Amino acid sequence: MSQFDVTIIGSGPGGYVSAIRCAQLGFKTAIIEKYSTLGGTCLNVGCIPSKALLASSHHYEELQHFANHGIEVAGDVKINLAKMIERKQAVVDQTSGGVKYLMDKNKVTVFEGVGSFESATSVKITKNDGSSEVIESKYIIIATGSKPSTLPFISIDKERVITSTEALKLPEVPKHLVIIGGGVIGIELGQVYLRLGAQVSVVEYLDRIIPGMDAALSKELTKVLKKQGMKFYTSHKVKEVTRSGETVTVKADDTKGNEVVLEGDYCLVAVGRRPYTEGLNADKAGVKMTERGQVEVNDHLQTSVSNIYAIGDVIRGAMLAHKAEEEGVLVAEYLAGQKPHIDYNLIPGVVYTWPEVAAVGKTEEQLKAEGVAYKAGSFPFKALGRARAGGDTDGFVKILADAKTDEVLGVHMIGARCADLIAEAVTAMEFRASAEDISRMSHAHPTFAEAVKEAALAATDNRSLHV
Ligand code: FAD
Ligand code: NAI
Repeated sequence: MSQFDVTIIGSGPGGYVSAIRCAQLGFKTAIIEKYSTLGGTCLNVGCIPSKALLASSHHYEELQHFANHGIEVAGDVKINLAKMIERKQAVVDQTSGGVKYLMDKNKVTVFEGVGSFESATSVKITKNDGSSEVIESKYIIIATGSKPSTLPFISIDKERVITSTEALKLPEVPKHLVIIGGGVIGIELGQVYLRLGAQVSVVEYLDRIIPGMDAALSKELTKVLKKQGMKFYTSHKVKEVTRSGETVTVKADDTKGNEVVLEGDYCLVAVGRRPYTEGLNADKAGVKMTERGQVEVNDHLQTSVSNIYAIGDVIRGAMLAHKAEEEGVLVAEYLAGQKPHIDYNLIPGVVYTWPEVAAVGKTEEQLKAEGVAYKAGSFPFKALGRARAGGDTDGFVKILADAKTDEVLGVHMIGARCADLIAEAVTAMEFRASAEDISRMSHAHPTFAEAVKEAALAATDNRSLHV
């Protein structure tokens, strides 16, 4: 029987990054993945393919505005969706191949098959052809991720009533895509198909889209997406989804009980994801689950069984690739006797629409609820030379700082390139910078990053230079 120091079940960003760090630290490491491609949800049906389609559809949308820049496109510009999806798949294949290369380079043993616990120190790997083998491991890390969740009365047929997985490979541009859930998936994939010419309607239970983020970001994103033609039904509770031939009918009630009926040719169900533990046989090892079906862990990400750890989407917290990665590294370093730490407050969140939305730290709503005295400084992109030069003037940067100490408590931004700009805010907050610290750093001119400096000036002393 093969023996390992560490065995990781699941090869998503949590699992494969953990495997690399374990190998770097000298552990004899194995990784088990049930699919033939490595990289998990993120690489195969999540972050990477969705960003590939967002990029392609963004190029198409930009073409419509080329005339403003004095560029005339001769002839019709057409969408070839099959080609767009083929390119997306090529990006996915290359990226997943890159993970395989990294496993080989770090001498991590890769097993293909479903991993299930035989005991607290042994895992059975069952291959597609039914054959199996059992390996022994001193430590085991559960990194089995998540799957799309749905509503009890919806039956996902994967053809017209679909999840994000099918939305990444549709055979045609929908005429009318009805999206249930105005969270990250609904809005990102909604914008893809909106750009490609679909009518897009979003039905959201709460009173705003991207409800986990600062309300000012929801408001601005709603404004921009409405301008682009997306329709919103916020504060609407979906009660029925039926399909007849090529038509999907979604019925929802607003808070007063008024019914809205939406007929589309596709319905994307994007109401969140659930931890995935099917087939894992976690109870055989004595691993406890929470009421929400997550693997229960303590602050060291240790489960109820002392040699078994869990990371990523399968445990509590934000379902984000970079959160899973940090946790994968934390467990590896903890096993090696180090004292790693994750500040969950400083894990940024990004929505890859255009304009991009990004945030780190506390929202205004959270600070109010916690009774923290804070000051806020904002700066609009339209006041920025670089934004005007490029024609990307939507959005703003908002910095929240402690009213007394000026320490930055939260940074919320929407606009061009915010997905990358947020890294400055994370760095600043990691080093517990004050708004004044940021405002006194030189920011190259003309750049989008100047909006961060200007927002910091506004937060410090209400002294933005360019508004
Ligand atoms: P996963 O990536 O889900 O990987 C788990 C792996 O374990 C899978 O490959 C699965 O097959 C395998 N597995 C499960 N059970 C077993 C078993 N018993 N035996 C063997 N293998 C098993 N996050 C971001 O940060 N940025 C984004 O832009 C982003 N975009 C997204 C877009 C979409 C459409 C979706 C759906 C998600 C997106 N996410 C994004 C979320 C991100 O994909 C997840 O947070 C991340 O993949 C979680 O990583 P993980 O390692 O915990 O699990
Ligand atoms: P989500 O939690 O972001 O959004 C789900 C939305 O559905 C919420 O706004 C919720 O209020 C709404 N909802 C729930 N029940 C509803 C109902 N009955 N009727 C109408 N609306 C309802 O989940 P989503 O978008 O499915 O994404 C899953 C996970 O994937 C997220 O946790 C996210 O972190 C991750 N992800 C991250 C991305 C990124 O980082 N850019 C991109 C895509 C996904």
